[in-house]
Amino acid sequence: MIKKCLFPVAGYGTRFLPATKSMPKEMLPVVNKPLVQYGVEEAIEAGLTEIGLVTGRGKRAIADHFDVSYELEHQINGTSKEQFLSSIREVMSKATFSMTRQQEMRGLGDAILNGRRLIGDEPFGVVLSDDLCMSEEQGVLAQMVQLYKQFRCSIVAIQEVPEDQISKFGVIAGEKLKDGIFQVTDMIEKPPAEEAPSNLAIIGRYILTPDIFEIIENTEPGKNGEVQLTDALLTQAKSGCVLAYKFKGTRFDCGSVDGFVEATNHVYNNYYLKGKA
Ligand code: UTP
Repeated sequence: MIKKCLFPVAGYGTRFLPATKSMPKEMLPVVNKPLVQYGVEEAIEAGLTEIGLVTGRGKRAIADHFDVSYELEHQINGTSKEQFLSSIREVMSKATFSMTRQQEMRGLGDAILNGRRLIGDEPFGVVLSDDLCMSEEQGVLAQMVQLYKQFRCSIVAIQEVPEDQISKFGVIAGEKLKDGIFQVTDMIEKPPAEEAPSNLAIIGRYILTPDIFEIIENTEPGKNGEVQLTDALLTQAKSGCVLAYKFKGTRFDCGSVDGFVEATNHVYNNYYLKGKA
């Protein structure tokens, strides 16, 4: 039912400089796979196999990662090293990749609006691949697709965060519909802790209905002069319905050094050492 998934990957990744000076942050490897591949694998697991990448200058490595590397393939063909390519080969056989460019980094809302031509008039997923989500059972996006089937409206993934972290996130207020599911009544991008309406923070997984594009077009730049997806979602919540879903699993902020190191240890201990990576 939902087939497409947008990956805004145009950001500068300033929190990870100098590593991200010439290398996209989304290509930083957690153990042996780049962040963006984890995100694409999660989308494929959820049945979203038409991947749209919103890229920018200096991000060619991402497009190349999802394409054949003839020299490399030729070199290691038939050797024991071929096994190291199996996960990316599987991804490439299951998904298609389209790209568009965001010319100026005008915020996440603007990046998503840039993806409009790749999406058209249908609901779609959004993955911010610097948020690495790991789950023992079903992936986070797959959990959200299930919820979409029931409610048919935009959904944001949320998690509880400690007070001193709140100002780093978009934060929601909502009416509880069921355990872990809220109908959004308010949303604020990166509020000071004392102004936050709750401790429920939005993380980088969304299902969006296509009316969001027109709403973004009519959304003025907000915090930091950027077109904020949070502002557009609040408009959508007020005129219709947006759900917030407390997902099952663990999220690592791999856009920050601390989160990245935590994620690396987690994947190394729980997947790589156990032969699951
Ligand atoms: P972030 O704010 O986490 O990414 O945006 P950033 O700007 O690259 O990182 P820092 O803060 O400078 O370290 C969340 C996601 O949205 C994308 C980013 O690539 C990231 O995946 N994004 C953000 C865009 O594609 N375009 C934008 O204009 C802004």
